[in-house]
Parts: sequence; C-alpha cells; structure tokens
Amino acid sequence: MTEIIDGNAVASEIRSEISGCVETLTEAGVTPGLATVLMSDDPASETYVSMKQQDCEEVGINGIHVEIEPDAPSEELFETIDRLNDDPEVHGILVQLPVPDHVDKRAVIRAIDPAKDVDGFHPENVGRLVAGDARFKPCTPHGVQKLLEAYEIDTEGADAVVVGRSDIVGKPLANLLIQKAPQGNATTTVCHSRTDDLAAKTSTADIVIAAAGVPELIDGSMLKEGATVIDVGVNRVDADTDKGYKLVGDVDYESAKSVAGAITPVPGGVGPMTRAMLLYNTVAAASDHHDIEIELP
Ligand code: GUN
Repeated sequence: MTEIIDGNAVASEIRSEISGCVETLTEAGVTPGLATVLMSDDPASETYVSMKQQDCEEVGINGIHVEIEPDAPSEELFETIDRLNDDPEVHGILVQLPVPDHVDKRAVIRAIDPAKDVDGFHPENVGRLVAGDARFKPCTPHGVQKLLEAYEIDTEGADAVVVGRSDIVGKPLANLLIQKAPQGNATTTVCHSRTDDLAAKTSTADIVIAAAGVPELIDGSMLKEGATVIDVGVNRVDADTDKGYKLVGDVDYESAKSVAGAITPVPGGVGPMTRAMLLYNTVAAASDHHDIEIELP
C-alpha cells in the first residue's frame, strides 16, 4: 500500500503549535508581525500572498501587506523594505518573488535585514545554512524535512535525489539533506535541466524530491519500487475546468503512486507545509529579537 503523505494534516498540527508560540509571545507583550510585499499582478503570486496573510490571521500573527504597482520604479520597493526593516512591529519581511524584470532581485534580497529575512534568502542566511548554523531554514525545504520527519521516513544513509537547483528549493534542500543533523545525513544527488539520463539517477533513489518546475517530469517508470516521492511542483496547465487550468506537480501522480512507498499529492502535500514554515520563521524571528523563549514544533 502506498502511503499518501498528508501535508494538510501535518501543517495543521504545526500551525496549532505555532498558535501556542504566538500566545506565549503575546503574553510577554510581543505580537509577532509579518510583512508581505507584492510587486506583481501575476494571479498565482497574488493568491500565494493572500493565503500567507490568511495564515497569519489564523494563528494570531499581525499581518501587514504592502502592494507596489509592477511598473513603479524599483526605489519604491527599496524604500518600502527600508521602512519595514526599521519598523519594530515587523519581525519578518517577505517580498514575493518573482519581482518585475526592471528590479534587481539580488539587491532586493540583500536589502532585507537578515534578522527579518524569514525566507532565508539573504546571503548571510544562505551562508549560515550552508555552514550548518541556519538562522532561518527556507520554508519549502524546511517543510519537506518536517514532512519526512512526521512520516518517519529516515534520511540517514538514504540515497536522495533532488531534481531542481533553484535558490528557493533545490539548493537549500540539498544542503539540508547532506548535513550531519536530524533529517540530514542523506547521500544526496542534485539533478537539473542539463542532467544526462535523469531516469538513471532517480530510479536508484530511496527518496526523490521533484522541484524542477516541469509538469509531470517524473513518472513511475523512473522510480524504484517503494521510494518516497516528494513533489514540490505547482504547475498550472490548461484544462477544461471553470478556471481554465488545473494544478499538477512535477510528478505524474498516478503512475508514480503505483510504484512509490509514500508520495505527496498536489495540492495538499508540500504547499501547506511551506506556508506553515513561514509562520514558524516569523515567530522564531520575534522570539530571537525580543529574547523570549518559545517551544517551536
Ligand atoms: N515565490 C515562490 N516561492 C517563494 C518563496 O518561498 N518566497 C518568496 N519570497 N517568493 C516566492
């Protein structure tokens, strides 16, 4: 029987523990605050940001949302970041990516105070993560680790293949999986768009994590019997639905399910975990800043 990894259930448990952390902080006089900044009219980005704000409200985090016109000068975004860096009520700042082409994405990431960089994308935080001293683990990789932990899928000594090398998922996740730490110690291979014979790599893996952004790239024929399959992909593909599209992952779910030992669905797998770990990083930022002890999940 293939185990279906229920990201909604695990995320819900984490959210309820985070609510407890928010309560502790609030009782100590600190309401954690998360600022989201959107400089885009991409419908998917708009949806992601509004879900993040909804999540804040649910757990008692003070959500602050700033929208900047996509054709505004980049200075407007940098001034917003400066203001949020200086705002004592803001403990976490998330600028939704991608930003428009005329805005220097790397400069945006560098402009965020590393202590408020709840994405974990600032070079200081990337360095700390690689060094095994993470301040904030990026939300999706952290969520994947929490899912593996919740389902008691041991990474120690396992052959893990990460398909995708993005700064947001592939690179940080591979770094976490190789660390001498819980949910680490995996023999990790990173595959990408230039990998020769991807199937040869995935078909020997105990754990395959698909994060390439290519719809249904990995199918059952590319997997080892009993492998754990974590699908990070969220791809909108044209479909005869009310919205005119449907969401599919980077994994061909039906064929992969017939081979895998455990698999995440899309939606309802990694997505809710990413959102939960953003709340986690926000309460961690507030706790660190005010030196108030909390018990994170
Ligand atoms: N766009 C897609 N994923 C992410 C994310 O994790 N953080 C930010 N800031 N933007 C994104």
